[in-house]
Amino acid sequence: MNVCRTTGLTVEQQERWPFLYSHLSSEIEIPSLNDMDEQIIIEMDKEISRILKHVGDGKAKSRESLTRHLKGLLQRRFQRNAKVEAFGSSVTGLSLGTGDLDLCLSFKKEQPKKVLRKVAGLLREEGMMDIQQIPRAKIPIVKFNDSRSGLDVDISIENRLAIHNSKMLKSYAQDKRVREFILMIKYWASRRGINTAYEGTLSSYAWTLMSIQHLQMTNPPVAPNRQSGNKPNLIEINGESYDISNDSSPFESENKQSLASLLITFFDRFATRWDWNEMVVSIRNGGPLNAEKKRWTHTGPLPLEVVTGQSKNRMEHVMPIEDPFDHEHDLSRIVKAEGAMTIQEEFMRALHLLSEGKSWKEICTPVMEIDEEPEDFFHDLRTQNIDLLRQSLEEMKTEVTQVEEHIQSLVTERQNSKELLDLLRGTLQETRNVKSNRQSILAELRPLSMKVQELRQTRDGINDRIAIPTKRIRQEMVRMFDSLTAEVDIFNTQNLGKEKGDFSYFFELQAMYKASIESNEVHQEFIRLRREQNKEYKALKKTNSKEEDVLNRLIEKNPELKGINLHPKTVKEFQQNANKLQKSINIQYSKKHELRREIGRIEAWIRIAASKGKQRPKRDSRPRTARRQAPAVNINEVRERASTGGSFSLNELDALLSKGGISGIESKEKASTSNQSDRRKSGRKKSTYRVDPRQGRKRGKKESRK
Ligand code: CTP
Ligand code: MG
Repeated sequence: MNVCRTTGLTVEQQERWPFLYSHLSSEIEIPSLNDMDEQIIIEMDKEISRILKHVGDGKAKSRESLTRHLKGLLQRRFQRNAKVEAFGSSVTGLSLGTGDLDLCLSFKKEQPKKVLRKVAGLLREEGMMDIQQIPRAKIPIVKFNDSRSGLDVDISIENRLAIHNSKMLKSYAQDKRVREFILMIKYWASRRGINTAYEGTLSSYAWTLMSIQHLQMTNPPVAPNRQSGNKPNLIEINGESYDISNDSSPFESENKQSLASLLITFFDRFATRWDWNEMVVSIRNGGPLNAEKKRWTHTGPLPLEVVTGQSKNRMEHVMPIEDPFDHEHDLSRIVKAEGAMTIQEEFMRALHLLSEGKSWKEICTPVMEIDEEPEDFFHDLRTQNIDLLRQSLEEMKTEVTQVEEHIQSLVTERQNSKELLDLLRGTLQETRNVKSNRQSILAELRPLSMKVQELRQTRDGINDRIAIPTKRIRQEMVRMFDSLTAEVDIFNTQNLGKEKGDFSYFFELQAMYKASIESNEVHQEFIRLRREQNKEYKALKKTNSKEEDVLNRLIEKNPELKGINLHPKTVKEFQQNANKLQKSINIQYSKKHELRREIGRIEAWIRIAASKGKQRPKRDSRPRTARRQAPAVNINEVRERASTGGSFSLNELDALLSKGGISGIESKEKASTSNQSDRRKSGRKKSTYRVDPRQGRKRGKKESRK
């Protein structure tokens, strides 16, 4: 592999980050922006004001109505317990029209982290697309796309600080020059593909903070420090205290610099003079904080070391940017090595192009090559026969009805399955109760039976030794006693031998009597325990019939339970079945919404065609690929020119009209950015550049720290 000996970058990486690479390998000098031609700055300002006319929240109405719709939806679902608030660019006034819609869902009572799935389910039923849940983040988020407006939406849960920091950004943005400056930085970052936090570059929010920091540091400052007041305004979130004070009073700046010159100094500052190793962006401080004092010095490898494979360790505080309210939150936490390289490449590139007097438009050229002409909304319908379209419209409507019926049957099946599942769980619970009752009876019966057994043996053992019943023993004893204690007839005395025998018989009777009494007592105990034992047996028998009763009763009430094996395994199977059904329902919902959207599109086209009195003539029935092979006019370039008020030929006008007309320009621009983001998602990055922040800055004059 061909690797640069100085930097360790491969040829592919050198091509990917050409400006940064040139600096790292000491080939070129960092250009200075100090003596920029006055005329270039004037031209750039004119250009910027033209661009500013086209950026802005063109979808503000869609955002508002979607916000209203989602608010209603979520509040119906979670009752008054829930609160839905917008934040981010739709409330700060810092929207380019291409950003997402940020909503915060907060609760008075419910456990917020548990609701994400419910929210996702609700959105699915609403036909929202590309639903993604991020439940384990510090702030759980569900992301999705509203196909009707095309808006990407983030609903975050309990993102209270974001509501407050958005309010503060709105205060900053009340100043026209501050707002327009931030918009231009966001415009540049977005078109150059470096504003995507989840891809390892910085969020729009981070770029906004950097913009404000720059405007606070100009001399005199263009933007104030809105957190420098003395009165703290503390709020508590999850046991942490945050000062959200925000001085929203108007700020009159003495600085009269134009937007273009402010942009130039922004690039000069962050491309050459900002030492990311020592300085932390902090708008709450009005200037950089010392990284060492904040304990935010860079640790781990440099981005260059990571991309060249010298280290795989984690980088910390690669471009430290402090959140104005959550001071422990470094917004560069999500920046990956490649992202850091790209950001620095973009700084370097902007610096070079500016120094060469290139236009702002060129500096902001979209980073993704548009390899396919964006289509207009009705492109594939234009050449189709209206009657055939009507016919397929009807077919699609029938299909929608079928899909709806299918959904209905799936929903019913799932409901039944769920009911049966609940029933099974209940049955198992009830029979489980009976079973545990039986267990406890058995537990008592066991020692009882042993005792009975023992008593029986003792009693029988005694009885074996006693030949005659107790009553007879007693009679015999009385008889013997009488005979032994009778008055003695001295003329007729017994002989001594007989008398001895009678006495010993009497003592024997006495011993037998004692044993017999003992045996009777044992017997009584035996009888008592037997009775108890019988009672337990009866109870045991009852539990058998009770279990049967429970089952019979349930089966009588719910015949569907008949034949089902009542086992926890069965419950699991039923649960899996219910989940499967839910998945099928979701698929059918998506299908239904796709169909509905397509029906809407075709109906709209039929209306347009009808309003023109006749179907548009077929301009070109050759396949699109064939047309694209020999383009007579560069339609993108014509569009660019049209959008900035430039002139074009009749030929170009014809091409423009055939591709959706001038009104298509804005949507083309959106399409191109959405095209970019699509491609970014699919990982097919083309010609993006990257940089190492520290090394890229090494020959510049350092920014002084506050
Ligand atoms: N936010 C935050 N912390 C972050 C990122 C964002 O608190 N790490 C909050 C801020 O309140 C910010 C809002 O989320 O205003 C939206 O962030 P983002 O979408 O990055 O900024 P927007 O200004 O909305 O940009 P865009 O127009 O591109 O959507
Ligand atoms: Mg946003």
